[in-house]
Amino acid sequence: MGIAPIGPFHYAGDMNFSAFGQFPAYRPRRLRQSALWRNLVRETSLTAGRLVLPLFARSGRKMRRPVPSMPGVFQLSPDEVVREAEAAFSAGIPAVLLFGIPGTKDDKATGAYARNGIVQQTVRLLKKELPALLVFTDVCLCEYMSHGHCGIVEKTGGRVANDRTLPLLARTALSHAAAGADLVAPSDMMDGRVAAIRQALDQNGFADTPILSYAAKFASAYYGPFRDAAESAPQFGDRRAYQMDAANVLEALRETAMDIREGADMVMVKPALAYLDVLHRVKAEFGYPTAAYSVSGEFSMIKAAAAKGWIDERAVTLESLLAMRRAGADFIITYAATAAARWLKEG
Ligand code: PBG
Ligand code: ZN
Repeated sequence: MGIAPIGPFHYAGDMNFSAFGQFPAYRPRRLRQSALWRNLVRETSLTAGRLVLPLFARSGRKMRRPVPSMPGVFQLSPDEVVREAEAAFSAGIPAVLLFGIPGTKDDKATGAYARNGIVQQTVRLLKKELPALLVFTDVCLCEYMSHGHCGIVEKTGGRVANDRTLPLLARTALSHAAAGADLVAPSDMMDGRVAAIRQALDQNGFADTPILSYAAKFASAYYGPFRDAAESAPQFGDRRAYQMDAANVLEALRETAMDIREGADMVMVKPALAYLDVLHRVKAEFGYPTAAYSVSGEFSMIKAAAAKGWIDERAVTLESLLAMRRAGADFIITYAATAAARWLKEG
């Protein structure tokens, strides 16, 4: 699977017209006559094993707080995270991606790397209750910062300081690995963070913990609902000085090359649907395991239109996920993972 080869034969070229007149010799409809034919020649597959479910952990017990802008998504206490993860796992989902909402925030993101922070606690519980499930963690500081930015904010000027943020990210990733995380996924977009995290992991006995870098993460309005879910909206300004400009694809390739050079095991393009061209080029250029993050806004748009009866939620969700696979994603991070897994099972 992966990127389809492109060459003259794939376009049928001069075979298009028969010797007998203007009718095409090649009639694509011949292979679309029934589901059996279509299944036989389908180029791309979508299976539950290629989906990852993001979950939001918050301290408490038996607590499920709905996220208003994301129907069916909740802030969950750790015990409820286990329940949700179990449902996903039994539907065929191999991994969850954990985010944390801490009790208190400060200007050093202390909660991000606390030994008993919300993510660390939840990882331990998940690995105890569901040892076979892969537990991925999002590594960022915005949820833990009083100002909501992804790094240390300088006292004057309000810039996010790149290099001073790196040790905190490395510490956060290390604390996740120490709690038992199977993979860490930095989403902050500081330059050099993959190298800093790789070094911290290697020097502390976690040489086998992989890094999935949010390599090409764009400053996107599609993150709106997530910031409700994670309570991570910046209190001033925006993220455009560290996340990527939506107009740039060559820069996305440089970002990806850089993360790979620094030791990323897998790379990600985010958002997904509005950036399928970027996804395609990242996969084609590097051939690395590549993830697409179908973000909150993509999910919420489908939910909202479906709630109005304007689109078919199931069909539009599966078509969108398939498009991400076709564009080059090996796997997809999506809030619809469990539902999609169940739909796929029904066939
Ligand atoms: C935190 C982070 C964000 C998302 C994933 N990690 C928000 C942001 O960068 O503002 C977005 C996910 C989504 O919208 O589903 N750095
Ligand atoms: Zn962040």
